[in-house]
Amino acid sequence: MTMNAAANPLIPRPVRDSQSEMNEIVLPNDANPLGALLGGRLMHWIDLAGALAAHRHSRNYVVTASIDHLDFWTPAHVGDLVVLRSSVNRVFNTSMEVGVKVWVENYLADESRHVSSAYLTFVAIDAAGPFESRAGSSGDRCGAPTL
Ligand SMILES: CC(C)(COP(=O)(O)OP(=O)(O)OC[C@H]1O[C@@H](n2cnc3c(N)ncnc32)[C@H](O)[C@@H]1OP(=O)(O)O)[C@@H](O)C(=O)NCCC(=O)NCCS
Repeated sequence: MTMNAAANPLIPRPVRDSQSEMNEIVLPNDANPLGALLGGRLMHWIDLAGALAAHRHSRNYVVTASIDHLDFWTPAHVGDLVVLRSSVNRVFNTSMEVGVKVWVENYLADESRHVSSAYLTFVAIDAAGPFESRAGSSGDRCGAPTL
């Protein structure tokens, strides 16, 4: 983030300013009895990865307002590395659409697979509720969606 962005939260920000990456190793406590990553755990990580991008864009506290349809295309297993990449795709008044794309890396086999993608809406808030001035201008596109 530039100094100007810190001084004025309303100036437009490019997608790259919100791009975030979160990495997790699947441990036994994250898995079902067959050693496959629990869907709920992955949803939790998707929520956190999305929040990273929303925080970076809005420079404010955010809450998750909604998560759209979510598919799990391929399982991740204990020992796999899960990579979650997120960015803000579009901003409205207090709300932001964030894309999260999830990859699983098996570093022993040196292969990477696309596990899941999700779109979430985060709303910038403070103690008084949704914080209109922080998410951006109505209908602004941050740039071409990357996720
Ligand atoms: C999200 C929340 C702050 C919205 O509060 P609200 O009083 O409905 O606020 P408003 O009606 O002014 O809406 C504020 C913005 O949120 C958006 N919004 C509200 N509900 C939404 C939903 N279900 N999905 C997507 N966007 C939503 C509105 O479109 C609006 O966007 P805009 O400012 O960009 O136009 C409020 O419902 C809330 O706090 N929900 C709980 C969040 C939470 O706890 N999340 C964790 C999961 S348990």
